[in-house]
Amino acid sequence: MKKRTAILISGRGSNMAALIAAARDPAYPAEIAVVVSNVPDAAGLAEARAMGVEAVALDHNQFPSRMTFELALHGMLLDRGIDLVCNAGFMRLLTAGFVNRWFDRHLNIHPSLLPSFTGLNTHERALFEGVKVSGASVHFVRIEMDAGPIVAQAAVPVLEGDTPETLGARVLVAEHRLYPHALALVASGRAKVLDGNVVISGTQDGREVLFSPQLA
Ligand code: GRF
Repeated sequence: MKKRTAILISGRGSNMAALIAAARDPAYPAEIAVVVSNVPDAAGLAEARAMGVEAVALDHNQFPSRMTFELALHGMLLDRGIDLVCNAGFMRLLTAGFVNRWFDRHLNIHPSLLPSFTGLNTHERALFEGVKVSGASVHFVRIEMDAGPIVAQAAVPVLEGDTPETLGARVLVAEHRLYPHALALVASGRAKVLDGNVVISGTQDGREVLFSPQLA
């Protein structure tokens, strides 16, 4: 049975589109059942509809508190029989109530090699620190922002003359490969959290790293 998956977005939704496209493969272990945006005019909502997926706006400003917003979101996911939740550029911090309800069934993508560079302006800070390799991480969501057991990572080189925009664009290409790969690992049951870390069955050492062609 395919895992019924919801994607939470706030913006353009390019990772969302990569997940929807990957899930069209009949052999893919997840189906994208709904896209929810807390920003009503997020471009990703129209894109999801154009790709044939139900897309719903749930404006957090219409709710008196984080808790009431999250209860409505949770109810929406329950109504649709959702098994897994994927944050994809979802720019709203979630409280322990929601995080605990979806514990180990909830993923996020972050454009750095975690635990480095959590939070915003990732590429700017990576360049400031002079790192030579950057990338993206898909991890299970925990209450701390951009933290939680890492499912898979993709590494890309930092090149001379990079700006936050050029590095970000290179990382984004890797993200679009990484997220569908990581969701498949979780939806198929191959990726499991064991003692706080993810172990992947069917690999030699229980880990997955994707390297960009430049680094392979
Ligand atoms: C991505 O870089 C993602 O890693 C970060 O926010 C960005 C969202 O981009 N969390 P998109 O909306 O998926 O195009």
